[in-house]
Order: sequence, then structure tokens, then C-alpha cells
Amino acid sequence: METPTSSINRRDFLAKTAAGAGAGLVLGAPGILRAAGASPSNNINVALIGHGKQGQVLFESMKNIPGLHFQAVCDIWDYNRKAAEGHVHGLQKHMPKAYSDVDEMLATEKGLDAAVIATPDFWHSPHTVKCLEAGLNVYCEKMMSNTIDGARAMVKAMQKSGKLCQIGHQRRSNPRYRFTLDQLINNNKICGQIINVNGQWNRAVKSSQNIAYKPSLTIKPEILAKYGFKDMHQFMNWRFFRDLSGGAISDLGAHQIDIFNWFLGAVPKSVYATGGNSYFKEREHFDNVMALFDYDTPQGQVRAFYQVLTTTSSGGGYWESFMGTEGTIKISENSSVTEIFKEASPAPKDPSAPPPDKPIPLSWDHLVQRGLLGRKAAAPPPAPAAGVVDSRVSKPPEGFALPGELNKPPHQPHLENFFASMRGEAKLNCDAHHAFLSEAPIYWVNPSALSHQPIVFTNEHLDV
Ligand SMILES: NC(=O)c1ccc[n+]([C@@H]2O[C@H](COP(=O)([O-])OP(=O)(O)OC[C@H]3O[C@@H](n4cnc5c(N)ncnc54)[C@H](O)[C@@H]3O)[C@@H](O)[C@H]2O)c1
Repeated sequence: METPTSSINRRDFLAKTAAGAGAGLVLGAPGILRAAGASPSNNINVALIGHGKQGQVLFESMKNIPGLHFQAVCDIWDYNRKAAEGHVHGLQKHMPKAYSDVDEMLATEKGLDAAVIATPDFWHSPHTVKCLEAGLNVYCEKMMSNTIDGARAMVKAMQKSGKLCQIGHQRRSNPRYRFTLDQLINNNKICGQIINVNGQWNRAVKSSQNIAYKPSLTIKPEILAKYGFKDMHQFMNWRFFRDLSGGAISDLGAHQIDIFNWFLGAVPKSVYATGGNSYFKEREHFDNVMALFDYDTPQGQVRAFYQVLTTTSSGGGYWESFMGTEGTIKISENSSVTEIFKEASPAPKDPSAPPPDKPIPLSWDHLVQRGLLGRKAAAPPPAPAAGVVDSRVSKPPEGFALPGELNKPPHQPHLENFFASMRGEAKLNCDAHHAFLSEAPIYWVNPSALSHQPIVFTNEHLDV
């Protein structure tokens, strides 16, 4: 059986996301609005698969969501499995069933409704496919897989099973991101025509070091080998290895490049990337990657630049910036980095442009009056340099701020959306098919950088 999402192709992705208001909702799996499996008690019985750093972050968010029963936990590492048991016991006052093997868990446990998967990337596809085939709904962390074929298998398993599969691109459910796309970019078009996009995830050497482990917690070599790890160093640092991960561009870049595609309502037509092991020379994956993407969007050509650097935290960490003729929105999951600028001299409206979409876009002043934007103190004008004034230097742009803070952990809205979709109360904001359409170009960044060649995408590169 195929889900309604199987009819989505890239053309729909472009057309529907360009449609303006509610674009995020359109990307949120049209047609999936059904109760997909709360148990008769109305509790959703959840299995936690992988309870490392991110598994624990997700659990902290899920603790705030009513109606969840954590029935089972699964992790190959005793240390993290015991932590999972303790965390669940602390919440529910009874122990979950504990497993080290997903197959054994799925064969033994009855009545599971959902799995939340936070294992290393190379396990996402096998774990997701098995859980969907066993009749569970799945929330799986990004990147969908370490290979594009692994990601394809996840989409197909979702479609075949008719179950829900949400991918953990949590910004897709973040109210600040949804407001910015729906209200500021699409409805009120405050950027004017977006022509360039920038994004980055920059991390200092200190935050990019190898992850250490206590020798007393070492996993037996035969267990490591059974689950695809060469040794304990590789188990802790799976992100550095080509067979286990896509490296920094996939681990970190996936977040921003997904936002490029979501906000533009388009996927790029080509990528040209470069990268190297300039500092961490022993790693299989590049420690710095820079990529250029060319887009043909419904609004015109866009060029995007993305960098992931693991030896500097310069430039404020991680963000995405949409630069238009009338303004720029720099947005980040870290609200202190988010900034909005209005060009001092907006571009004249094109007299041949078609009539504006309804509703008529609000001016920046109206948005401020309605509390949708805040005004920041104006920057002081630049000092004239020795009496020479270049008439073509742009005036400093006015700064604005977005209202509102996310008053919950950043992953919670995305998990809430998943469980609400299971109850038939919402639509998934990032089902596996939509995630795949947006993620597919990312799988081609490393091949471009390795070959020193641009890649012009064909259907073979981007199709499921
Ligand atoms: N969305 C986000 O913002 C975000 C942030 C961080 C990490 N992540 C993603 O979360 C996932 C996990 O990352 P992490 O940093 O927690 O990694 P981690 O290494 O800290 O944790 C992975 C856990 O999975 C367990 N595991 C490994 N193989 C397993 C198997 N075959 N079966 C069961 N358990 C297994 C490990 O023992 C470990 O407890 C990754 O896919 C990562 O990309 C997402």
C-alpha cells in the first residue's frame, strides 16, 4: 500500500512550497492525517532505540509530552542502556524492558506503537525499515542515512507500511522558523526577491576533538564487531568514518541545507564543493567543507553558499541567512543569532511585476505595529573617511528582531508534531519522503569535493 505522499515529486515540492502561506504545512506531508496507532488506553507505547547524547536529549523533550509510555529501551552499550532504564524508571516509576538488539526487541515486545531512533547514521535505515515493517511509527534522527540508497529504502518502507516516519529535522516544527517562512518571507515578502543564501556551522577545535571513553566502560570486541564498529574509538567517533556517517557536511550541514531548500521551496540544480583534512589529518571525512548550490526557484535564480568548519567558531556558530533585494533574514535555532535587516533603500518595485498575492503584503512598519517584528536601536552612521564619501557605499540597514522565544526544548515541537500526527491531530512536518527530497543534494557534496568537480543534478541523483 502506498501513502498519499508517494505522489510527491520534486515538481510538487517546488510548486507547493512556492505557493506562499502555509508552505511549511504543505511540506508537512499532505494527506497524512490519520490516527496511526495510539494503543487502546490512549497511551502511545514507545521504544527508545539508541540512548546516547541525542537519545537523551530527545527523552528530556518527550518527558514533557503527555500520554507517552516508554515500554522498551534498546542500546548495544550497557552504560547507555542502563542510563535509559534509569531515566525511564525516574519518570514512570517502573522499569522498561531492556534490549541490546533491535531484532530481539521487535520479536519479543507486543503492543509497541512507535520507535524513537537515535543511533549512529549508518544504523538509521536498517532500524527504521525494520520498525516500519513491524508496524511501528518511527521518529528517526537526521541525517536519514549515511548513503542515499539507505535513505531511499526508508521512504519506500514508509510508503509500503502506511505508517508514519518523521525525520528529526527539528527546525521544521520550530515556531520561529515556521512564522518566518509563512509570515515574513511568503505572505509579506519582506526580503523582496531572495537572490543569495548563506549558511554555516562553525565549531572550534575544542568542540571537534575525538570523544574519549573510560577504559572500564569498553564494549567487548565481539559486540562491537557484531554492530559494525572496528573498535571503541570508532564506536565513540563514528562521525569521522565514511562507512558510518557522511561526515560534517551531513552531520551539521544537513540542518542548514534543509532550511535552504525548505525556505526556497526548491532543491538545487547543482553543487560545487571543496574540502580537506586541513587539521584533523587522520580522519576519513573532511574537517572543513565549502559548497556552492545553484537554484532555479519559482521566484528566480538563487545562489547559496554553505560552510561547515570544525576548527573555528567564528561568525556566531550556526545560522542560515536569506538575502533579498529589500531585506535579509538571518535565522538560527540559537535565537540570539537571529537578525533581520531592512535595506535602507529598497529596490524599486518592478512595474511589470504581476499583482501581489492576496493578502497584500504588510509593510515593515505595519509588521512592527502589529508586534510581528521588533525594532532594534539604529546603528551609528559610519564616520566619513578623511572627507571622501563614496556615493555608492550602501547606507547601514535598519535592524529588526523577531518576537517570541521558544519556551521549550528545541526538539519538543517536532516530537509533539510526530505524536499528534499519530493521534490524527496533525500532519507530519517532515515525513521521510519530504526529508529525502530536501536531503538528496547533501549526499552529493562529498563526491563533488572529492572529485573537485561540480555535479549537475539529474533525476538519478535526486529521485527516490
Ligand atoms: N537533530 C539534532 O539536532 C541532532 C543532534 C545531535 C545528534 N543527532 C543525531 O542523533 C543520532 C545519534 O547521535 P549521538 O550524538 O547521540 O550519538 P552517540 O554515539 O552519542 O549515541 C548513539 C547511541 O546508539 C547506540 N547504538 C549504536 N549502534 C546501535 C545499534 N545497532 N543498536 C542499538 N543501539 C546502538 C550507542 O550505543 C549509543 O548509545 C545521530 O544520527 C545524529 O546525527 C541529531
